[in-house]
Amino acid sequence: MLQHFLTLLDLDKAQLQQLLQRAVELKAMRAAGEDHPYFKSRTMGMIFDKSSTRTRVSFEAAMAQFGGHAIFLSPRDTQLGRGEPIEDTARVLSRMVDIIMIRTYAHSTLESFAANSKVPVINALTDLYHPCQLLADMQTFIEHRGPIKGRTIAWIGDGNNMCHSYINAARQFDFQLRIATPKGYEPDAEIMQAAGDLVSLCHDPKAAVEGAAMVSTDVWASMGQEEEQTKRRQAFADFQVTQDLMRLADKEALFMHCLPAHRGEEVAAEIIDGPQSVVWDQAENRLHSQKALIELLLKQKSA
Ligand code: CP
Ligand code: NVA
Repeated sequence: MLQHFLTLLDLDKAQLQQLLQRAVELKAMRAAGEDHPYFKSRTMGMIFDKSSTRTRVSFEAAMAQFGGHAIFLSPRDTQLGRGEPIEDTARVLSRMVDIIMIRTYAHSTLESFAANSKVPVINALTDLYHPCQLLADMQTFIEHRGPIKGRTIAWIGDGNNMCHSYINAARQFDFQLRIATPKGYEPDAEIMQAAGDLVSLCHDPKAAVEGAAMVSTDVWASMGQEEEQTKRRQAFADFQVTQDLMRLADKEALFMHCLPAHRGEEVAAEIIDGPQSVVWDQAENRLHSQKALIELLLKQKSA
């Protein structure tokens, strides 16, 4: 069966560990100036229904570094924007390119696309999950602090797509996840339940970060929730990651944010720009971990 990457659960634990190891190798090769054009003439289709800086650039650069090519497709320029069904688009594109990534709204749109694609499909963010970001986050933690298994990680803020992918990561990488959200902004109950004792939920950021090895957060209003911004700013006012909050975590605790960030909202400037922050490594690792992902998916296709 064709291997896609729609959520972190699409790969098994051993595959994920290997992928991160490979990401570290590919990073070292690039740093050493060692060319690795493993996928000459291979093409990636990139469908973006939402904005992006990191995801677009990391996938495009990844394909260029592999000697291949990436095609950026936005609804403004394609027939998708004029109502061509996603299933038809999947059938056509997958006869022309070797791998496809999609950033869209409904997770079901991504699933419909994958069901009709002859080539591997990557989730580049939906309203429900952002698994590519978690590959980078896990790589970054391991590089700075060693194995994540058994560690305690705190998620502060919205029970959103990033939070859902952290829950799946707790299952796949065996860490404890403590989530603190405002009331009414909890993660999906079924996604939580599937993680069992690995994940706990509360409404008190202080309790969630106590002794944690890493604190991660995200914007209060995700893409598509722009009209809720004012309401959310009020609901999330006590959920800013500040110096006082970070003091309750382990003294070696890292701070992560998938970016883009809003200083003075979900995170204080002194934290994101301070010594505990690893957000720039995290952003860079999108490139390396996605290269390892592309390799895994393209190799199975030709196997
Ligand atoms: N973190 C992330 O996915 O960033 P972009 O929205 O810039 O791609
Ligand atoms: N939760 C954010 C993540 C952006 C990378 C959003 O969906 O907009």
